[in-house]
This record gives sequence, structure tokens and C-alpha cells, in this order.
Amino acid sequence: MKKLTLEKILQSQGFGTKKSCRYMVLDGLVEVAGAVVDDVKAEFDPAGLNFKVDGEPWQYREHVYLALNKPTGVECSRRPAVHRGVLSLLPDQFTARDVQPVGRLDHDTTGLLLLSDDGNFIHTQSHPKRHVPKTYVATTQDPVTPELVAQLSSGVQLNDEPAPLAAQARQLESHQVEITIDMGKYHQVKRMLAAAGHHCVALRRTAIGGLTLEALELAEGDWCYLDAEQLAKL
Ligand code: URA
Repeated sequence: MKKLTLEKILQSQGFGTKKSCRYMVLDGLVEVAGAVVDDVKAEFDPAGLNFKVDGEPWQYREHVYLALNKPTGVECSRRPAVHRGVLSLLPDQFTARDVQPVGRLDHDTTGLLLLSDDGNFIHTQSHPKRHVPKTYVATTQDPVTPELVAQLSSGVQLNDEPAPLAAQARQLESHQVEITIDMGKYHQVKRMLAAAGHHCVALRRTAIGGLTLEALELAEGDWCYLDAEQLAKL
């Protein structure tokens, strides 16, 4: 990649304006390869560059692809109205570089949420024609019955849909059913359960495509970068 000054590299990574990034360099807050670099003219190849800001390690990334284990009580919208926003769970740098959730989970839905600052990735992942399967574990108020599983599998009619929507469904526990859908209609899982006569009391997304929350080993509220191998599972 073309060599860049540290202020440009820092700015591209969401550390602030060009001017504030320049001061971070001048103030000796930035280290490369274990040594402070306070020369604002020094240039580095950004590709894969490891650096520290105020002692915290970072790696240059043209785009970031993140997975978050979303807790309940967190809104995915950019301007959260009632609950805290999902971006508040990430370092400020990510907000500055316009990281956004890929699709949305309800404020009370937990589990796997992808976020990125790559507009093409967000667009292709959330495009309705892509049909990426998304798996949820729903906890129901009443016991799960074979009829519920059969109804979800054969299709339930939602009032604003032209045709019944079907899901892959299997019972996990007495009050838990795993549901996989390949569309992302508004409140789809909760509404499918309601249409089948069941109230959903908790909902957790456990997988997107072949990427599972279990494999990521993220505690609630934690996030991680996704590598190429993990992204290929989506
Ligand atoms: N379906 C829902 O009902 N809610 C979600 O958050 C995701 C899928």
C-alpha cells in the first residue's frame, strides 16, 4: 500500500480529526514497532501495521468486520430513543469510522450481531435476495408442542405477508424452540410464534449462516474482529 504519515493512518482508523491525530503524534502517544514516533513526517505502509495509541495496541484495518454478543436492553438504531445504542458497546474509534450494525435485532433480542464500516458488505449481507439463514433460540411462555414445530415448519400466515412464511424448527427444551429463517421481516420470529399461538418471552440469535455464537466464545456485551475464514462462513 502507499505509505502514509501516522496522522493520516490514525485519522483513517477513527482516532479523530487530522489535527487532533497530529497532536497525538507530536505528544508522543503513538508507538510503532515498540518505539515512540513523534515525527509527523515519518511515513509507514499501513497494510497490517501494528501500532499503539496511549499504550493500547491496534492494527491498521481498511475496514472492520465485527461480531458482537448483543445483550438485552440495547437498541440497534443509529439514534437510540429509549435504550442505550449498540455502538456504545464498542470503542469510540468504531463510531468515528461509521461502523453500523448489519440488519437489526430488537432491543430485547440477544446474541449474534454483525457490524462493519464496509458499505458493500453491509449491503450484500442484508440484501433480501441473499437469503442468509439466521438461527434463533426462542423461549416460549407455554411449553413447545409438536404442533408448534409442525406449524412453523409448514408455514404461518402473517397479516402483512402475501404468503405463509416457513422456518426450520426443532424443539430444544420444554420451553425452547430453535428457529432458522432466511428472511429478515420485521419482528419475524416473534410474529411467527404469535401467529402459531405462542408468546415469545426471550429470543437469542445463535448463528448467521455457518458462523455460530458458540464458536466465537463471546460473553454477553463482548465483541471481536472477524477474520476471512469466519467471514467465509456467512
Ligand atoms: N425476529 C424477531 O422477532 N426479533 C428479532 O430481533 C430478530 C428476529
